[in-house]
Amino acid sequence: MEGRAWTRLPHPIPYQGSKRALAPLIGAHVPNHIETWFEPFAGSAAMSLWAAHHRKPPRIVLGDVLAPMGELWRAIIDRPDATAARYGEVWRGQEQGGPGYFNAVRDRYNAGGDPVDLLYIVCRCVKNAVRFNKAGHFTQSVDKRRLGMAPAKMAAAIHGSSALLRGRAEIRVGDWTQTTADAGPADFVYMDPPYLGTTVGRDRRYAEQLGRERLVGGLRALLARRVPFALSYDGSTGGRHYGPPLPEELGLTRLALHAGKSSQATLAGRSEETIESLYLSPGLLDAKA
Ligand SMILES: C[S@@+](CC[C@H](N)C(=O)[O-])C[C@H]1O[C@@H](n2cnc3c(N)ncnc32)[C@H](O)[C@@H]1O
Repeated sequence: MEGRAWTRLPHPIPYQGSKRALAPLIGAHVPNHIETWFEPFAGSAAMSLWAAHHRKPPRIVLGDVLAPMGELWRAIIDRPDATAARYGEVWRGQEQGGPGYFNAVRDRYNAGGDPVDLLYIVCRCVKNAVRFNKAGHFTQSVDKRRLGMAPAKMAAAIHGSSALLRGRAEIRVGDWTQTTADAGPADFVYMDPPYLGTTVGRDRRYAEQLGRERLVGGLRALLARRVPFALSYDGSTGGRHYGPPLPEELGLTRLALHAGKSSQATLAGRSEETIESLYLSPGLLDAKA
C-alpha cells in the first residue's frame, strides 16, 4: 500500500526535481519516531508531505534559501482559501491575457515577489524548471504547449497540504546550516541540495550556489551533533555520472535508488535509467532493518 500512497498525497508546487515519485523509496529509511522533521532544501517539500502523512512528526521545519518559496508555503499552509482563489484568478487571466501574459506575471513577480505569482510561473514555465539569474530574478520562459495546473486541481492540492502541515510546520528562510542549527539526535533531517552540476558553470538553476566544501562542512556539523539524516546528492543517467561522491571518512552509507527513466533522455530519443544516490548517516540503515 505504502508504495503507491504517494499518488494520493497533495503536491501543489510542480517543481522539476521534486522527490514526489521517489518519496516511498527514500521514506523507507526514515525512522518511525521523529520529534522534529527538517527539510532545509524544501522546494516543493515532497518528502515533508510524505513524512507528515506517513511518520506524523509533531513538528516539521521547512527551510529554503529562496524567500518567496517560504512565503508560498506560508500562504499555502495558513491561508489555503485565499491562496487557491488568487491562483485561480492569475491562472484564468491567461485566457484573455494574450501571448505576453506569462512575461507580465513574471515581471510582476520579479518586482514584487508575490508568492502566488511565483506558483503560477513555476506551473507554466518550461519543464517546471525554475531558473534565477544572479540578481535573484526568475528568468525561465513560458512553456507554450501547456496551461499549468488547473485551478480545481491546485485548490485540492493546496487544501490537502494545509491539512497535513497546519499547526506543526514552521517555515524558515535561510541557508540550510542555519535552518537546521537546532536539530538534535531525536530529530531527522532530509536534504536535497542542488546538484553540483547546477551550482557551477553557466546553467545556474538556483539563486544561491552551494559548493561541495560547504556541504561537507555542514554534514560534519550534523554528525558531530549526532543528528540522523538522509541526503539525496549525486547520481547517474545512462552511465554518465553527475556530482562527485562524498568523502568516505564521513562514514555515510551510500544507497543507489532506481529513479526510473530519464525524461530528458526520453525527449532526446534515448531510453536511459536514472540512478540517484541516497546517503544515510551512520546507524540509520541498521536502525530501520
Ligand atoms: C533540488 S531542490 C529541492 C527539491 C525538493 N526536494 C522537492 O521535492 O521539490 C533544491 C532547493 O534548495 C534551495 N537551496 C539552494 N541553496 C540553498 C542553501 N544554501 N540553503 C537552503 N536552501 C537552498 C533551492 O532554492 C531549491 O528550492
